[in-house]
Amino acid sequence: MNMPDVIQKKRDGGELSRAEIDFFVQGFTAGTIPDYQAAALLMAMFLRKLNLEETYHLTEAMRLSGESADLSAIPGIKVDKHSTGGVGDKTTLVVAPLAAACGVPIAKMSGRGLGFTGGTIDKLEAIPGFQTAVAPTDFLDQIGRIGLAVVGQTARIAPADKKIYVLRDVTATVDDISLITASIMSKKLASGSDAIVLDVKCGKGAFMEDMESAGQLARMMVDMGRQAGKKTIALITDANQPLGQTVGNSLEVIEAIETLKGAGPADITELSLVLAGYMIYAGEKADTPEAGRKMAEAALADGRALAKLRQLITAQGGDPAVIDDYSRFPQPANCLHIYASSAQPFSAAYVTAINARRIGLASQHSGAGRIQKDDPLDLSAGIRLLKKVGDPVKADAAIAVLYGNDIAKLEAAAGEVRTAFTIETAPPKDSSLLILDVIE
Ligand code: URA
Repeated sequence: MNMPDVIQKKRDGGELSRAEIDFFVQGFTAGTIPDYQAAALLMAMFLRKLNLEETYHLTEAMRLSGESADLSAIPGIKVDKHSTGGVGDKTTLVVAPLAAACGVPIAKMSGRGLGFTGGTIDKLEAIPGFQTAVAPTDFLDQIGRIGLAVVGQTARIAPADKKIYVLRDVTATVDDISLITASIMSKKLASGSDAIVLDVKCGKGAFMEDMESAGQLARMMVDMGRQAGKKTIALITDANQPLGQTVGNSLEVIEAIETLKGAGPADITELSLVLAGYMIYAGEKADTPEAGRKMAEAALADGRALAKLRQLITAQGGDPAVIDDYSRFPQPANCLHIYASSAQPFSAAYVTAINARRIGLASQHSGAGRIQKDDPLDLSAGIRLLKKVGDPVKADAAIAVLYGNDIAKLEAAAGEVRTAFTIETAPPKDSSLLILDVIE
């Protein structure tokens, strides 16, 4: 077998066999297939599409490219959660403590930011001292002690995905349903949890912009999970505007803490309670997702979820005092206010849309995300949205604030924030629907 033949077959619309997919994944992971051949095959896959069987083989080959975590020593049904990537999505920081506080063991392996979307691991590293690289034995020990660990993906889990993702990121082959399915499900299936709750983002701030493609992605991932014998549930959730009011690492951790204190934005609180409800249900601590949600509401109200976050921070070497004193987070040297009149000229009106992708890009450009893969992050950088969709605005009102250490970067990002806002004289149609569909 050789790569030019495999590339040509897919280029011409053929169906790849399991052996051909294994050949590609094993060779690329081992370094015997160069980037240019892998990139050509990925583009052929992107343009010609993979069918369900090919997607299954690709997921399996990527899962088997490394080790599988063995969580069998931890009693109970271990539940994992994964989002397909959104702007301002800090729900893991809320949902994981909520579900763990309700008795569901959470062994969470998370990723770093990708493109215009943020990543949980970068956010957690905004907490001084917090360690995201944890040895496998310490990971298991921590879940046994406090029922929760959130760590970075080790190089040993699905290493093929690591290499393939980097290439997809720079070859315009990210937003394909089969390639996203294989990327996410290979990692999730290798991570060892018994059940998986997927948050499939749909809208302008997501890789899937419409319901049809988000539905196809959700069904394909649920199918892969089910074929592997894992209980898998996907929620399709709105990602047209950023989630919550902040985007950027320290800012988002603070907003997650506020949410666990019962003072978070309505959308984060609602989505977190729904997702936690499904995780508690998937972990068989509740008979229905609604009963799970009630348990999550109780853990939020009586402070058990916040206490769980404190335990998590302490267990992973972080400074738990950040929960009570936000000045312990990295502080930005500069801030820049964005005014409504600079977004669009008007006298008085409403915010009718906030383009999440543009806000994500502005956050990335302020220093909160990477432009090149090894860029250091400014953990203090990001955006606070002072207005969300539906809010009335006056022309002289500030609509957002950019934070960060490099004023030139903030000035460069300001234009993107301005153009992200649509301001019109009539109020928008009701856009408060957050959960668009559930696929079980
Ligand atoms: N998240 C992933 O882990 N992989 C993708 O391909 C897209 C989002």
